[in-house]
Amino acid sequence: MEKTAVKRENWGSRIGFIMAAAGSAVGLGNIWRFPYLLGENGGAAFLLIYLVFVVFIGISVMIAEFAVGRKSNRAAVGAYKSKSRNWTFAGAIGVLSAFFIMGFYPVVGGWSAAYVAKTFTGLLADPAAIGDSFGAFITGSTQPLVWMLIFMVFNVVIVAKGIAGGIEKAGKILMPVLFGLLVLIAFRSLTLPGAAAGLGYMFRPDFSAVTGQTYLAALGQAFFSLSLGMGCMITYGSYLNKKENLANNAVLVTGMDVGVALLAGIAMFPAIFAFGMEPAAGPGLVFVVIPTVFSAMGGIGTILSLIFFVALTVAALTSSVSLMEVAVAYFIDERGMERKKAVYSVSAAMTVLCVLSSLSLGSMSGVTLFGVGFFDFFDILTDKIFLAIGGLLLCVFVGWFLDKEELRQELTNGGTIQFGLFEAWYNLVKFVIPVAITIVAIAGIASIEQ
Ligand code: PFF
Repeated sequence: MEKTAVKRENWGSRIGFIMAAAGSAVGLGNIWRFPYLLGENGGAAFLLIYLVFVVFIGISVMIAEFAVGRKSNRAAVGAYKSKSRNWTFAGAIGVLSAFFIMGFYPVVGGWSAAYVAKTFTGLLADPAAIGDSFGAFITGSTQPLVWMLIFMVFNVVIVAKGIAGGIEKAGKILMPVLFGLLVLIAFRSLTLPGAAAGLGYMFRPDFSAVTGQTYLAALGQAFFSLSLGMGCMITYGSYLNKKENLANNAVLVTGMDVGVALLAGIAMFPAIFAFGMEPAAGPGLVFVVIPTVFSAMGGIGTILSLIFFVALTVAALTSSVSLMEVAVAYFIDERGMERKKAVYSVSAAMTVLCVLSSLSLGSMSGVTLFGVGFFDFFDILTDKIFLAIGGLLLCVFVGWFLDKEELRQELTNGGTIQFGLFEAWYNLVKFVIPVAITIVAIAGIASIEQ
């Protein structure tokens, strides 16, 4: 089966792969981004649209990415190129997305790490000052940069160790810890008086505020949260053993990702409502509302806050290593670079982007691209544009340029396992998803101009 001359690294075990793929999917997207998008987009209606996209688009795209990666035994660019040189650009967009997401993601990862430390230094002492101190912190020119660098160094250490040694081990230990912590916080939140209003907000849909933008935000979030549309799951799939059931793995990883996002919502919204706070507070939601809520709980609040930000930092780390790996794998596979050298060069470039992003929230706020600062630019460019285009290209590639029977062989492991929904999956990928992404993108752009 192995066609390549160089022996590639492989995942050490099935559970290791699942944990690493789920570790990639579960991150700031679930705990920082999902709740604030839900709050900004009116709650349950957004949730419903998001879930429909996850089920009908996300799972199929993930199966397709795993299949392309494992079949070609190559990371994003190489996987496309192994079919035709004309497709190299699709992989390149993925690698570029990895650089741009890593141009702001470690900044937020750094905030999260900083809040672990801040919990010890009196963050919760004065609830009224938490909002202001967050604003002052992220607009500063030194502290957020130092924390971003610390976060980046963790990434470098893990990714430099390679697949089974670093990323896999980190995911296997840290993911279950994260899950346990969230359950604990959700339990505390749900037992607050008035918690039911938060659940109502999350689960009782009101479609009156839904626009084309809501759909685009939900689609972007589905791709971002599931780590799709930029070759990350192609890359992880390329290290995957030929005996694995790709469809089952995709369903499992998606289930865990959605589970954690819902859990994050359930941990936050009942508390937000119980304390009469603002659900549409935007990107500061986690960093302002959670400590404020916790500060009202006395000593236990300090411990919960600490646990929460450790969990958030951990989740961010297992995702950012996967983002870095996409770029690193490109330089190893396509440029013959040695792993360590690839990691150092890639992380240096990402650090420069992060410095720009972080400063764009403060001293460099006057420097804008298309009307927004670097931080928002990298975020919007990847989430709303690159990932959707990446997902669309992947589906066109798989549906129209790969051989259907070869795909069937890949997804049934040469006919040794069942994939009863193959035809449904194939038609979704070939026809439905490309059309759906195009419609959502057009509707989203049209509603911006209104
Ligand atoms: N899925 C990650 C999150 O939700 O935080 C972010 C991410 C990781 C996006 C890897 C894309 C990716 F390839």
